[in-house]
Amino acid sequence: MMSAPPIPGPIVCVVGARPNYMKMAPLFRAFALRAELPRAVLIHTGQHYDVAMNERLFADLEMPAPDRNLEVGSGTHAVQTAEVMRRFEPAVDELRPGCVVVVGDVNSTLACSLVAVKKGIPVVHVEAGLRSFDRAMPEEINRILTDQMADLLYTTERAAADNLLREGIPGERIRFVGNVMIDSLLRHRQRAPVPADTLAQAGLPRSVVEGAAGYGVVTLHRPSNVDDAGTLREALAVLREVARRLPLVWPVHPRARANIDRFGLAGALDGVAITLLPPQGYLEMVGLMANARLVLTDSGGIQEETTALAVPCLTMRDNTERPITVEQGTNTLVGRDLARALACVDAIVAGGGKRGRTPELWDGHAADRIAADLSAWLGLSDRQRLAVNS
Ligand code: UD1
Repeated sequence: MMSAPPIPGPIVCVVGARPNYMKMAPLFRAFALRAELPRAVLIHTGQHYDVAMNERLFADLEMPAPDRNLEVGSGTHAVQTAEVMRRFEPAVDELRPGCVVVVGDVNSTLACSLVAVKKGIPVVHVEAGLRSFDRAMPEEINRILTDQMADLLYTTERAAADNLLREGIPGERIRFVGNVMIDSLLRHRQRAPVPADTLAQAGLPRSVVEGAAGYGVVTLHRPSNVDDAGTLREALAVLREVARRLPLVWPVHPRARANIDRFGLAGALDGVAITLLPPQGYLEMVGLMANARLVLTDSGGIQEETTALAVPCLTMRDNTERPITVEQGTNTLVGRDLARALACVDAIVAGGGKRGRTPELWDGHAADRIAADLSAWLGLSDRQRLAVNS
């Protein structure tokens, strides 16, 4: 008699920083819904540790508290990456995962993939194949190396497969499934508070977002914009001019906040219609974006969310790893080019600006497709598992 195939160890799901949570939440839910899959274990590396950057987002996303928190905290890239590896390895030795699922492009994504692959544990990368072709971005290095190590690569847009094939990754590992971040957006959008309530919650006047002209939302945190006094000053100059046309609301990332103070630039925001907020919860952020006239950002995920929300996005970068948001969505790259930014703002204020369409498979079901595919890949289709159990 043939012996039943071994049931694999748990699916270890890794999160480290804020943009990981909205990607992992739908995956974790989808894994739990498939009875044939082994149990999913959630490990937080602790790369982000503020309550505002963590617990509130987990609650908003209806994600259970992590099974473990490795509490690595901040550090240089080398220290942070190494510390995640040091702390993730014993967890892997103990749990003996059937596979490790990583999302996105943060330092934790790279570090945990490297630990797993050297132990012969399959690495599953969700949001694979995105490329900015800008190696000065730490995330670009993380993306390239994680994809080289991954056994299964799930992509959000078709161009990603071309990038991966060019880097020598075998086509049979690559699966186009859509965008798990949009799964979260579509699931939770109806629960988002109205922007005026978010302002009131922060002790600010509701009128900031209730004017007839509407308002814009700002997010900035990329080292290329905020880590150098000169570039940060330029970015703030763009915001000041935009704010003359449209009041702006800016939930400030800790990195940007620290650098505004360090470079003595707080004065650049005096006397202009820019309202600063602390980092917001997921639902508050969705509410702010969904009702905005425009969003000014250097975030990756927000380029996608604004496309799905059909809100014009001006990306303060010279490149994007998410070209579909420019080609099909509402995104325009403006860098820190004041004239370009103002031309877009004027067009948006006058006539609504760029209208996009929703990209293929950004339909709220990407995580279900991944769970089904992973199940088959692990050899755990329903029929096989029934055979195992009988
Ligand atoms: C990281 C990710 C980036 C992601 C961003 C979202 C990498 C290389 N970068 O960048 O891709 O878009 O998260 O936020 O992984 N800090 C706090 N509280 C926290 C976390 C950080 O105050 O909970 C402060 C610390 O001073 C820290 C700084 O923010 O030094 C930057 O944090 P870090 O995790 O190093 O990178 P991010 O800029 O957040």
